[in-house]
Amino acid sequence: MSKFFYITTPIYYPSAKPHMGHAYSSIVADFFARFKRIQGYNVLFLTGTDEHGQKIQRAAEKKGMEPKAFCDEISKTFFDLSKTLNLSNDDFIRTTELRHKKSVENLWNILEKKNEIYLSKYSGWYSVSDEAFYSEEEIETKDNKKISKLSGSPVEWVEEESFFFKLSKWQKPLLKFYNDNPDFILPESRKNEVISFVKGGLKDLSVSRKSFSWGIKVPSNKDHVIYVWLDALTNYISALNYPNTNDKLYKSYWPATVHLIGKDILRFHAVYWPAFLLAADIDAPKRVYGHGWILSGEEKMSKSKGNILDPIEIVDTYGLDPLRYYLIKEVSFGNDGNISKEKLENCINSDLANNYGNLCQRVISFIEKNLELKIPENYSFTKEDKEVLKIYEDSFNKLIDSIDNQNINFYVNFIQDQLFAANKYFNDQEPWKKKEDLIRLNTILYVSIELIRKISIMLYPIIPDSSLKALKIFNISEDKIDFNSIKVHENLKKNDKLNKISILFKKIEKND
Ligand code: ME8
Ligand code: MG
Repeated sequence: MSKFFYITTPIYYPSAKPHMGHAYSSIVADFFARFKRIQGYNVLFLTGTDEHGQKIQRAAEKKGMEPKAFCDEISKTFFDLSKTLNLSNDDFIRTTELRHKKSVENLWNILEKKNEIYLSKYSGWYSVSDEAFYSEEEIETKDNKKISKLSGSPVEWVEEESFFFKLSKWQKPLLKFYNDNPDFILPESRKNEVISFVKGGLKDLSVSRKSFSWGIKVPSNKDHVIYVWLDALTNYISALNYPNTNDKLYKSYWPATVHLIGKDILRFHAVYWPAFLLAADIDAPKRVYGHGWILSGEEKMSKSKGNILDPIEIVDTYGLDPLRYYLIKEVSFGNDGNISKEKLENCINSDLANNYGNLCQRVISFIEKNLELKIPENYSFTKEDKEVLKIYEDSFNKLIDSIDNQNINFYVNFIQDQLFAANKYFNDQEPWKKKEDLIRLNTILYVSIELIRKISIMLYPIIPDSSLKALKIFNISEDKIDFNSIKVHENLKKNDKLNKISILFKKIEKND
């Protein structure tokens, strides 16, 4: 039976160049996509840009550009970043594409036909920066300015004719949906936030704007543009060729396995999106995971705050895989995390250069000197050999389970522990003292190189380039990587020739 896995990142606003926060979501999504591929799933991984609405229109005006030309320019920087970060996304969607426009219009028409939308007048607060409506209780005054308590963004008063979506009527069905699908919102703490928001009562949602033009027009009333969040969320099905629900992509991949997002946009994904879908009689996604923020000091790193770290600069200085490893390991997934160059450098020197890179070099040069780079023929496992191998078998299901629950921390800790264990094994067994006992020497080298194989496979979703470089030792190419093989211990064929590899990670010189 074919197994399908569909993961998405948020589609980012091309209002300014991407920063480390965007890189973070994308790298983590790539980690899951790559893991599921080597586990044997058909994977669809989607990212892209969210190009309509007042925020983008104003950003374009500020630059004196037409919105579409402005989007073309900045969307390209997000597209380029996906290459720089070595993302394995299958598609990159832009909401200014025709395929998306058709999909949004179709969803709108269904909602209208089902009587879920009506025309009235909106008067209330709006944040252009968040593209969000806020209630009076969600507003505070700071330095004489009205801002959202939730995001800190400035709000402005809006009063205009607007179409409304009957969100209030979906309060009970949503609560039932959360109850029936207890893993819909993760992590758990975020789920509680959402449920109490919904329990607090839902007002009908303004889903069109009249006072600007940059967006998809309401099909039945061209004076209105569709609310940018209704537009943007639909990208997740546009990419599957919705409204053609007989399309192979749609049939295979919807409902999505997981929408990976930052906690800033949880309400849109966990409340509005399932409500729109339920109302249109479309399945809701299986999960929304709201991760934490990359902080800059104490604050969220963001374009509007201007406190950003440029991922491209970091990649230029340190290389891509160190950044990927660092973000996945150092930010405890689900929580906020602070990042610094110093911690990144420590991570490169200790985990990557020492524990992993150096181990590979030591073992392979030992095998070169003593076994002419061949997998030994005669070996015999003792209890301690079996123990250091068996943990992969024992933890196998737990590892898969942890990934399926977005528990990256378990997976990463396991790798770190096993890197430590492999180094300890090689040092404790002292192969350099076993030259008289050939079987023992063979066995130690067999086990050591097998541990390197397992760890390199596990590292593939995190640091794909370096992992592939290491897997050249075994002639394992990308299409041959099989996560399931980590629980097999006698995978290496006797007498097979291994390959030498160049240094994986250079240490950073520190002058302190
Ligand atoms: O909200 N730390 O786009 P956006 C971690 N277009 N992640 C961060 C981050 C930070 N400091 N800053 C941004 C939008 N992100 C909408 C989404 S989806 C249908 C439409 C990441 O450009 C995180 O994933 O403001 C966050 O949710 C997203 O970028 C917001 O990107
Ligand atoms: Mg934002």
